[in-house]
Amino acid sequence: MRFRNKVVWITGASSGIGEALAYAFSREGAHLILTARRRERLEAVRDACTGEGKRLLLPFDVTDYGCHPTMVGAAVEHFGQVDILVNNAGVSQRSLVLETDFSVDRRIMEVNYFSVVSLTKAVLPYMIERGGGHIAVVSSLLGKFSTPLRSAYCASKHALHGYFDALRAEVYDQNIRITLICPGFVRTEVSLHALRGDGQEHGRMDDAIEKGMPAEVCARHILNALHKRKEEVYIARYEKIALYLKRFAPGLFSKLIRKAKVA
Ligand SMILES: NC(=O)c1ccc[n+]([C@@H]2O[C@H](COP(=O)([O-])OP(=O)(O)OC[C@H]3O[C@@H](n4cnc5c(N)ncnc54)[C@H](OP(=O)(O)O)[C@@H]3O)[C@@H](O)[C@H]2O)c1
Repeated sequence: MRFRNKVVWITGASSGIGEALAYAFSREGAHLILTARRRERLEAVRDACTGEGKRLLLPFDVTDYGCHPTMVGAAVEHFGQVDILVNNAGVSQRSLVLETDFSVDRRIMEVNYFSVVSLTKAVLPYMIERGGGHIAVVSSLLGKFSTPLRSAYCASKHALHGYFDALRAEVYDQNIRITLICPGFVRTEVSLHALRGDGQEHGRMDDAIEKGMPAEVCARHILNALHKRKEEVYIARYEKIALYLKRFAPGLFSKLIRKAKVA
């Protein structure tokens, strides 16, 4: 019950990691605000939560920036506060740079980066006014290194680190904590909804994702990291090796990643 009576807002709560986070926070006593576009899926997640905390659904497209202040107002009016914002909604990519329409590059940055900036900026003043808060950002190991077929996705996740490392330093004295979460392969719908170069969904369950860490396990690691107020956490299995190769043997990493099988 580490999050008893905390108000936790999770974006991308209709499937995958966000859904698993909703169940995990609910079990630990949190009140939930659940956001995604698919209302029916959010209702199903809400109804499957087992905890005693209250639940509010706020379905919207996170790239609809104009509605962010209204949504934050609705959340604050309902619960009086937001203790933890988990920016988790995201979309992946399966296309080479030369095959990717510029509109797709932009779309991925909008969903994965600008929406996170916008929603965070809308929530922050309320957190500061109340004396503190916690912003979690679901990045990726691909926020720390890049692979082929994911150029815009990697760029969007790298951008989150640049932005939120700066924000962390700016608001530390106002008791705002920032946690950047970097999962490896997690078994979710991510590859089904990943965008191809023409903007269509990839529509396939990739092998690495199929064999990835269960979302419930990932969610458990995320709650532990948030409880410890970690600044950055890597949640992965064997693929974590790439992170250390990139850090300690960048030349070798560069050679190996050219040949990497990344679907
Ligand atoms: N699975 C992995 O291997 C992995 C690894 C590293 C990082 N991640 C990151 O983990 C996060 C969650 O992804 P996941 O793996 O759980 O995939 P997922 O099952 O496809 O979930 C993505 C979530 O984001 C929501 N979403 C997407 N676009 C949205 C939009 N425009 N507005 C509002 N909500 C939107 C989706 O809901 P609706 O479609 O209902 O809107 C869904 O709830 C993402 O940021 C992803 O980059 C995943």
